[in-house]
Amino acid sequence: MAERSSFVVVANRLPVDEVTTTDGERQWRPSPGGLVTALHPVLVQRRGTWIGWAGGDGEAPEPFELEGIKIHPVPLSADELERYYEGQSNATIWPLYHDAVETPVYKRRWREAYRLVNQRFAQAAADVAAEGATVWVQDYQLQLVPAMLRDMRPDLRIGFFLHIPFPPIELFMQMPFRAEVLRGLLGADLVGFQQRLAAQNFVRLARHLLGLRYEGQSIQVDGRKVKAGAFPISIDTRDMERMAADPAVQARAKQIRAELGDPETIILGVDRLDYTKGIELRLKAFRELLADGKLTVGDTVMVQVATPSRERVEHYQTLRVRVEREVGRINGEFGKVGVPAVHYLHQSYSRQELAAMYVAADIMMVTPLRDGMNLVAKEYVACRADAGGALVLSEFAGAATELRQAFLCNPHDPDGVKEALLRAVGAEPGEQKRRMRLMQRHLRTHDVASWARSFLTELGATDDPPAEH
Ligand code: ADP
Ligand code: F6P
Repeated sequence: MAERSSFVVVANRLPVDEVTTTDGERQWRPSPGGLVTALHPVLVQRRGTWIGWAGGDGEAPEPFELEGIKIHPVPLSADELERYYEGQSNATIWPLYHDAVETPVYKRRWREAYRLVNQRFAQAAADVAAEGATVWVQDYQLQLVPAMLRDMRPDLRIGFFLHIPFPPIELFMQMPFRAEVLRGLLGADLVGFQQRLAAQNFVRLARHLLGLRYEGQSIQVDGRKVKAGAFPISIDTRDMERMAADPAVQARAKQIRAELGDPETIILGVDRLDYTKGIELRLKAFRELLADGKLTVGDTVMVQVATPSRERVEHYQTLRVRVEREVGRINGEFGKVGVPAVHYLHQSYSRQELAAMYVAADIMMVTPLRDGMNLVAKEYVACRADAGGALVLSEFAGAATELRQAFLCNPHDPDGVKEALLRAVGAEPGEQKRRMRLMQRHLRTHDVASWARSFLTELGATDDPPAEH
């Protein structure tokens, strides 16, 4: 029987993925995405158990320890991967919760797998959690887990945090098993969102769909109180600052600039290759500015890191084709021999290499059509101890509520994006510094530790690393 913990995180992904290299060797590799970036330092501090999928299909590896975290892998079969992860999670819920910027697909067999896998995660949490433990369930892949877990273990304190947006009623109501999802979430004692508006959507939905009353700051469910609130997630700001200040990272940043031909302006984008991230519209804005003669190849270069993501989901495959076509078009029309206009990198990088890119970049473009938070925007700001650089940020990223000094733009308006980019390129160093410093000051006090603390305090879980049973 697995060792029991008084602090348990349940997330679809573990902080590491088990992958098979080209020579057939099994290796652990850091997992992509904002959830892992945010939760990893919290788990290290609290020495809890992290329950999640280890990547790949078939049997799960045995539980093991990693940097003081107890890792408890949950298996997914190839069929479940297709139906629960690629289907229900990433072709139904993901687009629906992101303003339906791609059309959500609804399939009964995906929902059935989602239910089954959520049950498995709930069972794993029930097995691992000590009496009266705090269990913190994460994200849209596991929305049924809170209620399932409460049925099995009413002694637990259960929190749920949604890393992505929560849609308005009109959109949520499209989902075929909408009441079941809502009841699943209401199994928690506290449901956390990135934004106040999302929390309001949730409270309204509970009234609209299930007729539940909101009294004394909580939703009344079967004689229990369920709280809902906004807890904007963040990064480990000090750690990011330290990494960016590392002489090796600074030297690498210089080298990157030199490798790019020491242009006047480096424009950077770093995103999972996802249709919510606005990569295409950013490329288009850049192309039009080159065509207008407002930017010139040689003086300006764009680097787009597009991390491979959910590659078997159709929306992602078509996006990749469109993005790569646009990169090809820009380089074909505006590149010169040895001087491409866009450097496109469909690869994963170490945190150090990413930090070096942030340090090297004059302009960071974060232009999602909709994003729960966007940690890349925060990472860029934290890396600029020199207070140089400028952030162009979509109003539709959760981060825009906090990073008010960024060059904000509406990603649905191509002229607005172009204008924000030009303003960022043309900003005086003094203005850039003033904006950066204000955003940095905010991130120092609003870091990932304060995010976790405020959520767990509201949940009623102590902030002290708990004693293990
Ligand atoms: P999302 O959660 O949708 O992926 P975020 O911007 O919130 O978006 O988080 C992305 C995280 O993944 C950041 O911490 C970023 O540094 C990391 N990341 C993005 N691209 C890469 C990459 N190519 N290699 C390694 N890490 C990456
Ligand atoms: O933050 C949103 C999120 O979907 C996380 O839940 C997830 O870990 C990350 O993005 C990366 O996505 P995936 O786990 O599907 O690769």
